[in-house]
Amino acid sequence: MDYRCERCGYTSPKWLGRCPECGEWETFRSIEPEHRGDDSPPAAPQPLTEISLEASSRCPTGLEELDRILGGGVLPGSTVLVGGEPGIGKSTLMLEVAGRLAQRAQGPVLYVSGEEAPAQIKLRAKRLRLASQEHVWVLGEQRLRAVCEAARQADARALIVDSIQTIFPGLAREGGLGTTQQVGEVAYQLSQLAKAEQIPVFLIGHITKSGEFAGPKAIEHLVDVALYLEGGRESDVRILRAVKNRYGSTEEIGIFQMGEAGLKEIENPSEFFTERAGSPKPGSVIVPSLEGTRPILVEIQALVADSRGTMPQRRATGLDYNRVALLLAVIEKRMGLYITRDDVYVNVAGGLTLREPAVDLGIAAAVVSSYKNRAIDPEAIVVGELGLSGELRRVRKLKERLHEAAKLGYRQAVVPAVGDLPENLGLQLHAAAEIEEAMAFLGLE
Ligand code: TYD
Ligand code: MG
Repeated sequence: MDYRCERCGYTSPKWLGRCPECGEWETFRSIEPEHRGDDSPPAAPQPLTEISLEASSRCPTGLEELDRILGGGVLPGSTVLVGGEPGIGKSTLMLEVAGRLAQRAQGPVLYVSGEEAPAQIKLRAKRLRLASQEHVWVLGEQRLRAVCEAARQADARALIVDSIQTIFPGLAREGGLGTTQQVGEVAYQLSQLAKAEQIPVFLIGHITKSGEFAGPKAIEHLVDVALYLEGGRESDVRILRAVKNRYGSTEEIGIFQMGEAGLKEIENPSEFFTERAGSPKPGSVIVPSLEGTRPILVEIQALVADSRGTMPQRRATGLDYNRVALLLAVIEKRMGLYITRDDVYVNVAGGLTLREPAVDLGIAAAVVSSYKNRAIDPEAIVVGELGLSGELRRVRKLKERLHEAAKLGYRQAVVPAVGDLPENLGLQLHAAAEIEEAMAFLGLE
């Protein structure tokens, strides 16, 4: 019999009082023999030509923001991890998915909760006005064996486990919860179940800031898709992002808004993120950012204010701080503006996070607009990566970005003067080679 450290997963043929790997005391437990051996017949190799693709037909959840990330739908037999901080909306999202999958399958979808009572889930379902409630089966259970059994017996078309940190891998409610070994064992067994039953399995995992529990990161290697639900405390916008995706891209994001009746898909994100009340204000600019394959117009705001002799404050929300600091240096040097002494705040409206350099010029324009206290034409968008010497660089998918802007009624675009520019999009293009030139087009020279 082998022994394994519950904290870090180190195994040893004999019991040890202290783990040589992580240094923890009294963490060794015997590994049940049934978890070591596997008496299923060995798999036989096949030529590629013989392998059928039929089993891998995707099943759309009907929640478009999720399906896009999954590459069209969830694959039967696959395991999807949904991670996020407590309270962000994981249970809400997955209950919605349960209802949608049940509606499509017209068969039972099993929602296992190890942390909430079935009545609580019923309340949530009511609040969400959940579809196909007769096909959404709820199980309050913490023992893995019982969960697997229930899924088989109900002939579930999909299984959702909320959350992996609350399920005991053994036969009884024993051993520690939230250890690397526990979440690993549960994730492994459930991914085996997914394959054997050819159903999708969704695992909810809590991320804790303190890191005292083993979180979703510890099982990313065991799942096919790892998604994270993110959002700021002050914002009701929730972003679903893939960090691992065997069946699709990791660049696509899903955008939701948490409201009275759960998570609603934001159908027109460009409109949503650029909604502005009143006349255009200095420091505000619209950029066409690209999230995965999808162009989304977003408002960037900057505020440059005299720090009045105190230590200048610099803050970037939804943007990389170091990138903003670098852009401030470029602006100072190239435009001759003296902003070292000023407080500078830059943020992305609506709670999105922009990670691509194509929004550089937008950040710079917002800062200069605020500094000069001059508003930017509300019908203009700005796009381009900035080099260290103030030169503008090419951005990918310029045409798609401009097309999105034209669709929403924008009339002007400042773009990098690199390569062939797209034509006939209904936008007047101003091609600039350098930051000064771009600012001149915007009336910010
Ligand atoms: P929940 O899905 O329980 O989060 P998680 O499972 O990630 O811990 O949702 C958490 C918050 O969402 C909770 O504070 C209440 C809020 N909420 C709404 O605003 N509207 C809703 O319809 C629901 C179901 C929840
Ligand atoms: Mg929950």
